[in-house]
Amino acid sequence: MSPADALIDCQDAALTFGRGPNAVVAVHGAGLRIHAGDRLAIVGPSGSGKSSLLHLLAGLEQPTSGTVTWPGLSGLRDIGLVFQGDSLIPALDVVENTALTLVLDGVPEGRAREAALGALAVVGAADLADRLPEEISGGQAQRVAAARVLAQAPRVILADEPTGRLDHATGSRVLDALLTAANETGAALVVTTHDPAVAARLTERHTMRDGRLTSADSVDADTAHRLGEPS
Ligand SMILES: Nc1ncnc2c1ncn2[C@@H]1O[C@H](COP(=O)(O)OP(=O)(O)O)[C@@H](O)[C@H]1O
Ligand SMILES: [Mg+2]
Repeated sequence: MSPADALIDCQDAALTFGRGPNAVVAVHGAGLRIHAGDRLAIVGPSGSGKSSLLHLLAGLEQPTSGTVTWPGLSGLRDIGLVFQGDSLIPALDVVENTALTLVLDGVPEGRAREAALGALAVVGAADLADRLPEEISGGQAQRVAAARVLAQAPRVILADEPTGRLDHATGSRVLDALLTAANETGAALVVTTHDPAVAARLTERHTMRDGRLTSADSVDADTAHRLGEPS
């Protein structure tokens, strides 16, 4: 696939917070291309730069050096970001929370609500529509966050540790919801996680360590090199 086919093209992108002695390099020159149909995991421990990298991919942060471009997208609205942690608004019920991105985008309320109900059904949360965020569990809230992105029908879904604080079974259901959402809309899916079991359910894996991104393939090459085999 040529670079022109890429939905997101991240080339040697770095992100540094702060200046001088207090500077923190959250991402060292990272290279990554996202294409339609990709199911990609970015695996790394807390503080390794996963959220920073996703924010670069989403255009929420400007790279300190290098570039992030979106050759295959018509705009950043084609990207749906599931934020790490709570993202539901306490005063809005589940269907209103799910419709929120569309309503903010100017979609008439009736149509936004209809799309939201459809998206909630896809992630198996239709029965929660009238509840408030305080009346649902953490796993249910993450499924609602997935439904919100699904309602937006983006071309790329970026999910930041969507299963982070969930037990294994609940996390697995949230991942099902995201995979279903991506399959339904034909979106590329990028999931950050520290859980190898989550990463194993995606088709391509990259590792993040101390701000450095390595693809699964180059990890294999390194291992081969260490073993003294031709790589
Ligand atoms: N807004 C910020 N200001 C300063 N440092 C930050 C900021 N956001 C993240 N960092 C630092 O950048 C590094 C990577 O953080 P982050 O991308 O959140 O990692 P992860 O998502 O893998 O836990 C950490 O050292 C973190 O403290
Ligand atoms: Mg993070």
